[in-house]
Amino acid sequence: MNPCEIGCPKSHVDTPALLVDLDALEYNIKKMAAFFKDKEARLRPHVKTHKTPAIALKQLKEGAVGVTCQKISEAEVMARAGIRDILIANQVVSKKKIIRLAELARDNAIKVAVDSSQNIEDISEAATAKKVTIGVVVEVDIGMNRCGVPPGEPALDLALEVERKRYVKFVGLMGYEGHTVTISSYPQRKDEASKALRLLVDTKKFIEEKGVRCTVVSAGGTGTYDIAGSFPGVTEVQAGSYATMDAKYGSVEGIGGTFKQALSLLATIISKPSEDRVVIDTGMKAISHEFGMPVLEINNRRLELSSLAEEHGIIRHPLAAKGMNVGDVIELIPTHGCTTINLHDYLYGLRKGIVECVWPISARGKFH
Ligand SMILES: Cc1ncc(COP(=O)(O)O)c(C=O)c1O
Repeated sequence: MNPCEIGCPKSHVDTPALLVDLDALEYNIKKMAAFFKDKEARLRPHVKTHKTPAIALKQLKEGAVGVTCQKISEAEVMARAGIRDILIANQVVSKKKIIRLAELARDNAIKVAVDSSQNIEDISEAATAKKVTIGVVVEVDIGMNRCGVPPGEPALDLALEVERKRYVKFVGLMGYEGHTVTISSYPQRKDEASKALRLLVDTKKFIEEKGVRCTVVSAGGTGTYDIAGSFPGVTEVQAGSYATMDAKYGSVEGIGGTFKQALSLLATIISKPSEDRVVIDTGMKAISHEFGMPVLEINNRRLELSSLAEEHGIIRHPLAAKGMNVGDVIELIPTHGCTTINLHDYLYGLRKGIVECVWPISARGKFH
């Protein structure tokens, strides 16, 4: 573990280190909770972004109905932290994992997404063997072209299959309009997301008309939290990135201005080979770049890192020479929080530049 003590100033934290500004984090959590206060839909934050039970517990304290996870191993971490109401918004397929799912369902309200008959059979078999009830939501593909059955009849067929099982309970539908969440223009995003959500809600109506009760309709991400959260018929929203934010979402209209950038990566300049080039101790093993190069501010100017190697980051810019020297620390904003946080063991919580807490990112690397 990093040798920094609680109470240290930021500059004493050994790098590369992942930081979260606690005022900004708490602001974001409260801001999102306030949006859902008078809505029919409830917030079920996706914890795949922060992977940190301490943050999930803060979200629950502010009124979240439970959490969303992407993997069984992530859900196990959250359950160990005392979080009982968990939706796994993904397919859990191998026999070994399904046994873990059934074990988790013994003491927790577990719901999992399904989109195939075989998977329903396997989940039913494990649940029957352990005599535990596992809730399922049928995943509908609402335009992202990832998992999910087409809207309408195929979703009804799976719902009816689930209804015939004794230990598997059909609770509703999920769909993720992920193809729309980072559309930069708000009107265009609203239009595209609404089209997707309409498919989901119409499927719910269709299923209910056939006499099957569909309590949960779960959808939404940070980019569409307000669209999904106000869409008649949607009951739960799975937004995750809003808590910590990243540069990608920061550039999305209506999201960047609404939520504060809480996450950053502290790095040290380890070399200054020329007047326009500095090298930091942070490479792609400490910060992700699939959404673009990490961002930094120098003299009030926003720059992108020029390149990343495994353990090096390079800033090639005349501004880099000015006032930047070997041993200095700088802060980077990750373009993608989810994949950056997953690279780190600890998250340093800072308030006004002082370390207030060091949280283990207990679900990092939990991709099973
Ligand atoms: C199933 C699912 N739900 C919700 C989200 C929302 O996440 P975010 O808040 O990062 O947009 C994601 C993101 O990948 C997802 O895969």
